[in-house]
Amino acid sequence: MRQFPAFFNMDDARVVVFGGGEEARRKVRLLAKTSAQITVIIGKDIEPGFAEEFAGRITIAPQSEAGPALDVARFAIVACRLCANTERSIEWARQYGVPLNVVDRPELCDFTVPSILDRGEIVAAIGSNGSAPVLAKSVRSKLERLLPARTGELAELAGRLRPEVKAAIPDAKARREFWEYALNGKPAELAYAGELDAAEQAMRDAMKGSRRTGIVHLVGAGPGDPELLTVKALRLLQQADIVFYDRLVSAEIVDMIRRDADRVPVGKSKGNHSVPQEEIHELLIRAAREGKRVVRLKGGDPFIFGRGGEELEAIQAAGIEAFVVPGISSALGCAASAGVPLTHRDHAQSLTFVTGHAKKGGVPDLDWESLARPHQTVTVFMGVGTAPTIADKLIEAGRAPDTPVAVIENGTLSTEIQVFGILAELPDLIEQNAIKGPALLIIGEVAGLPFASGAVGLSGGYTQEIYA
Ligand SMILES: C[S@@+](CC[C@H](N)C(=O)[O-])C[C@H]1O[C@@H](n2cnc3c(N)ncnc32)[C@H](O)[C@@H]1O
Repeated sequence: MRQFPAFFNMDDARVVVFGGGEEARRKVRLLAKTSAQITVIIGKDIEPGFAEEFAGRITIAPQSEAGPALDVARFAIVACRLCANTERSIEWARQYGVPLNVVDRPELCDFTVPSILDRGEIVAAIGSNGSAPVLAKSVRSKLERLLPARTGELAELAGRLRPEVKAAIPDAKARREFWEYALNGKPAELAYAGELDAAEQAMRDAMKGSRRTGIVHLVGAGPGDPELLTVKALRLLQQADIVFYDRLVSAEIVDMIRRDADRVPVGKSKGNHSVPQEEIHELLIRAAREGKRVVRLKGGDPFIFGRGGEELEAIQAAGIEAFVVPGISSALGCAASAGVPLTHRDHAQSLTFVTGHAKKGGVPDLDWESLARPHQTVTVFMGVGTAPTIADKLIEAGRAPDTPVAVIENGTLSTEIQVFGILAELPDLIEQNAIKGPALLIIGEVAGLPFASGAVGLSGGYTQEIYA
């Protein structure tokens, strides 16, 4: 480690920035987040908008005032556009013995400005000895995705309660355990969800020695492609103590679960309810009561044909805190992958999600007349088995037999298959292409648009296009 990272206290500090161009402006933007008094020394002119952006926050001074400004400065940054100004500024700063950063000249720097991740009280600085600032920035973006936006608010709350916690829990080991829970368990998740009062209450309860309960997140895993996982879902998977997941959650996503977490498959396949729904509720509640961070991971979005509503109700009825993290529904993933816009100004003014599920040999309980109207898209989940009935019923109710349809199996996965055709031939399309599911049926004019062919499919997977 050639450089030693340290954080300056900027209260009452004065800093000098040399330069009136874009580079200087970027540095001032960073410095203006602190409470430092900033003097910007300019040569001939200053970029339009620079002074206005920091009105009341910076003092702009000519070069003749550099000396007095440097005399009281904690450090200086040189970001001049002209070489002559750069050389002169360096010389002045050296005369006054002020630590110096010269933009893009690491060999002249006393210190470098790291790539900064700012979450209020929590600040991470990533440096590269000045040798690879772009790499430092990319490390920062990776960290950014992992750190919840409200980390700073949690840190602020913890800072405020610290003296009380110290008084309430004098034993150092017990205090450490308290903070582990407060900053990683339910109180933290409440703060991340923006419920700061509830987070504070949960910390106070734990301080008083109340039993520490866990928290449940019902998380949407998206349609399969791991890149379609939300940032929040990824964070929760990497923090969870236990994850209960469905059959439709792809193996790649299951692989992203924290290595030490328990992984419990509770998947249902058609006609095979491996863990009954009530038992899933009990498992979730029991794990949360043991104080665990529980993730219930579901394919697509938990609230779209995912029984998320029932699970949420059962968990909340048991007095357990629960949050829902939306996922990209397979309807959206499949449509994007196949290049089928679900709505279109000229072709589909409404969109309906329906389930094709029906009791064995039965007919899905749907409003066929309303679904048969033209210029709308009907997206059918769980409709492979009942596709012949669906096609018959829609045509009987007045939908044109040549209405375009798309069938997308394993959408967004490397095994994805897309099939395009017309409503009258839907059963044959499914049979001839051996579609077994999970598959989504898209019925409507939009499935027949010229670009609806997977040509704009999501990256990563291959698609097989079969036209009827
Ligand atoms: C129980 S529902 C769950 C839906 C899920 N909550 C969602 O928002 O996508 C299961 C049905 O979703 C559809 N499905 C889920 N993942 C799919 C995928 N990757 N490709 C095509 N259809 C999918 C199929 O119709 C499947 O039968």
